[in-house]
Amino acid sequence: MDYHKETILILDFGSQYTQLIARKVRELGVYCEIYPFNIGLDKINSMDPKGIILSGGPRSVTEADAPQCTDGIFNLKIPILGICYGLQLITKFFGGEIDKSLKREYGKAHIFFDEDDGLFKGIKDGDIIWMSHQDRVFKIPEGFKILAHSDNSPYAAIKKIEDKIYGVQFHPEVHHTTKGKQILKNFLYNICKVKGLFSPRSFVELAVERIREEVGNSKVLCALSGGVDSSVVATLINKAIGNNLICVFVNNGVLRKNEVEEVLDIFEGKLHINLKYVNAEEKFLSALKGVTDPEKKRKIIGRLFIKIFEEEASGFGDMKYLAQGTLYPDVIESISFKGPSATIKSHHNVGGLPKKMKLKLIEPLRELFKDEVRIVGKELGLTDNIVYRQPFPGPGLAIRVIGAVNRERLSILKDADSIVRDEVERNAKFRHIWQSFAILIPVKTVGVMGDERTYANVIALRIVESEDAMTADWAKIPYEILDKIARRIINEVPGVNRVVYDISSKPPSTIEWE
Ligand code: XMP
Repeated sequence: MDYHKETILILDFGSQYTQLIARKVRELGVYCEIYPFNIGLDKINSMDPKGIILSGGPRSVTEADAPQCTDGIFNLKIPILGICYGLQLITKFFGGEIDKSLKREYGKAHIFFDEDDGLFKGIKDGDIIWMSHQDRVFKIPEGFKILAHSDNSPYAAIKKIEDKIYGVQFHPEVHHTTKGKQILKNFLYNICKVKGLFSPRSFVELAVERIREEVGNSKVLCALSGGVDSSVVATLINKAIGNNLICVFVNNGVLRKNEVEEVLDIFEGKLHINLKYVNAEEKFLSALKGVTDPEKKRKIIGRLFIKIFEEEASGFGDMKYLAQGTLYPDVIESISFKGPSATIKSHHNVGGLPKKMKLKLIEPLRELFKDEVRIVGKELGLTDNIVYRQPFPGPGLAIRVIGAVNRERLSILKDADSIVRDEVERNAKFRHIWQSFAILIPVKTVGVMGDERTYANVIALRIVESEDAMTADWAKIPYEILDKIARRIINEVPGVNRVVYDISSKPPSTIEWE
């Protein structure tokens, strides 16, 4: 079933919660796309959305240059739900009044109903809602009715009597609105009348069909890193075109412990994917010899990777496509009205390849959020080991050995890092952790082991929680786990006699130490 047939359009007015709306809608089984608030009517019509959600936003509709969507959407007879700024926009458009209220309303409030409506089926008087606004509706437009109020807002929810145009002052998409998901569900299923066609399985079916259609009998090249995105891309394309997919897996010498064996075992051994393994460890390590500047390390690794990848690819002859693990947040970034912000994608390994190699890009995950990629990975039969793998930087352990990289330091770091992985990444209890890893600080400090003084390296632990790596906070890991990690590293890894925990957040620090 083509889930695009019942797409929900989300117009983004700059709210920090816009992506959350999209994720909730999709969790409810409905495909949706986010676009900047000012896209034209032609574009909207071409999508034929079954409903439109206007997001919140940081601005005030009373400002002269406030973000506006095309007026035309209010005549489309498509159900609309305006959230916060969205509600105020609807109010202003239809001639109501907005009050620049002096009192900000932020946080918990209770909803009370003035009228029954399908939007609030299953929600009771007194249920908790989450407010975050300064302006508020002062007078609702003619032709509208009040559906609900809150402790502080007389117009917590309104509706146009003749059309399915709704506005809510609170944020149903945030976790704190306890029945927020039910409200969104009601909007989708009761108001927009969707069937709910979107699921990991329907995604896989459609993606396989589309890849076959697009690629035909041509060959597709894929750089496999063992990370979740490239693994899911490879497995999906393999399902679609089998041996016409050729994966190249380059060992750059700065992978994690047992990474090579694991990747080969899964992709070659279990999934029988056409895989070319290139052991370039020696080349990378000699290129990195004596290099201490992290930017130089990155450049050396990036360039060498491209060189080796190109060499390998040219050996296959008639490649037409290059598969890439672009995800939906990157797509939104690139179309967003907010302009380009620094994202982790600027680090992408294979960026720059297609131009030189004249390959067409194929990006089967460009509709998905990261958590959806993981679910699709499971649907495709990938093991938890791959599916819940944390992000790992292209330049790998080279930027986690501070200073010069050599085999001895890498070996120490690999062993220490593997212990951190055992205790955190491989522990299902810690799936909320964004990244957890070790850093080798080749500064010697004194220790005592048995009767002997030691003079050995320091290992730093970096364990952070984050949504998207743009900001991060150090994880409040239980002391027993930290204790176990420290003891294990010092006892099991020769060359380390001290373990420290990094308690800085990003910003002002970064996740990697470099
Ligand atoms: P920072 O250290 O800037 O890292 O807070 C943010 C996120 O990006 C990852 N990272 C990289 N990923 N190639 C990548 O593919 C890189 O060169 C690179 N550098 C940092 C980092 O692990 C974190 O998730």
